[in-house]
Amino acid sequence: MQNPRADVWHRHPADVERQLRGAVAAGNVVTLAGGVPADELFPSVQLDEAMASVMRDDGAAALQYGWPEGHDRLREHIVAWMAAEGVEVSPEAVLVTSGAQQGLHLLGRLLVPEGAPLAVETPTYASALQAFDLRQPAWRAVPRTASGLDLGCLADAFERGGARVLYLVATGHNPTGGVLTEGERLEVLRLAERHDAWVIDDDAYGSIHFARCGRGASGAPGTPKRPSPLRAFGRHLDRIVHLGSFSKVLAPGLRIGFIAGPASLIREATHLKQALDLETATLTQRVLARWLDVHPLDQHIARCITVYQRRRDVLLDAIHATFPHARREPPDGGFSLLLHLPDRLDARALLPEAIRAGMAFEPADPYFVHGGEPSAVRLSFSNVDEYGIRLAIHRLAGVVERAKVG
Ligand SMILES: Cc1ncc(COP(=O)(O)O)c(C=O)c1O
Repeated sequence: MQNPRADVWHRHPADVERQLRGAVAAGNVVTLAGGVPADELFPSVQLDEAMASVMRDDGAAALQYGWPEGHDRLREHIVAWMAAEGVEVSPEAVLVTSGAQQGLHLLGRLLVPEGAPLAVETPTYASALQAFDLRQPAWRAVPRTASGLDLGCLADAFERGGARVLYLVATGHNPTGGVLTEGERLEVLRLAERHDAWVIDDDAYGSIHFARCGRGASGAPGTPKRPSPLRAFGRHLDRIVHLGSFSKVLAPGLRIGFIAGPASLIREATHLKQALDLETATLTQRVLARWLDVHPLDQHIARCITVYQRRRDVLLDAIHATFPHARREPPDGGFSLLLHLPDRLDARALLPEAIRAGMAFEPADPYFVHGGEPSAVRLSFSNVDEYGIRLAIHRLAGVVERAKVG
């Protein structure tokens, strides 16, 4: 039998992680690695006030154990947030998790029997693959780019590949930033329904949705509304699970995500969660619920989108000017884009040199379920200001030029 530990580890190669940690610690390296929200967008003062108010009014309850399904007031807020996105769920159909990442783990355990076929996009969020690796699934890889999903290949994954579970990031796809169209969403649901397959719609970035490049600021009049999450389409509802998170839209340090889906699945997931960690931290759940009592989440998100969209545009301009022939596609959401280095240069081999030159990126090969894409890099624009983005790409250009000559 394979060693499951080895499988979980290869998604985040130790040498890459060590170098990226070193780059952050060095302080003088501009890092486009890691899909993290902008430090300066955290509502720190407001969260501080929410914390003080929770401790003043409900201190004992906030420091006490709670229940595995999550804090009731927070679940009400989640239900309201989802309703605004067009998804109808009752509070009983929502489980608060320790980040969306825990939701991935729970769903892997509940929906994917060991060794069973599992359809995933390729590339996709590497830590989702890491969570599912624990089931040692028979991967059915469905190509995904910023401009869409290979629906023929998805049909094949169900039909001939025997997959009965699909994991996808329909909006703000990680790493490409792609957003599936409504037509693609309907086709995914039609195929899944036909094969009685589960669909895990990872909506961690769902609210981070931009106007297409050059079509004006998101949130401005005329900007297309974000495409609804899959559960909003009302088809095949007994097999669609929605995965949400407050990490990208508010603060990952809270470690709060959620899953929403059919009541029976949520009941099972709640039991499993209880076995894993009893509950999501009571304190942060209550602080978040109190913050949401006072501050409209949509207004906060709109402010964030304005910043992220501008950074996305600056990164695209810098890449266009520096690597006009490199393969990449403009992201319509999320925090990152995928770039293929010119001349099929090996991203992992280039990383130490890039860090020495004062910039960091993430080699994206682990995002491809079967690997084989050494020149792919993931560039995140979310937590670097516009000057830093231009500087990082300028430095990368120097590294690439030297590597080509060498
Ligand atoms: C697509 C996707 N899903 C889920 C997660 C996990 O998010 P959380 O911080 O809520 O665990 C991430 C984090 O990067 C992500 O990119």
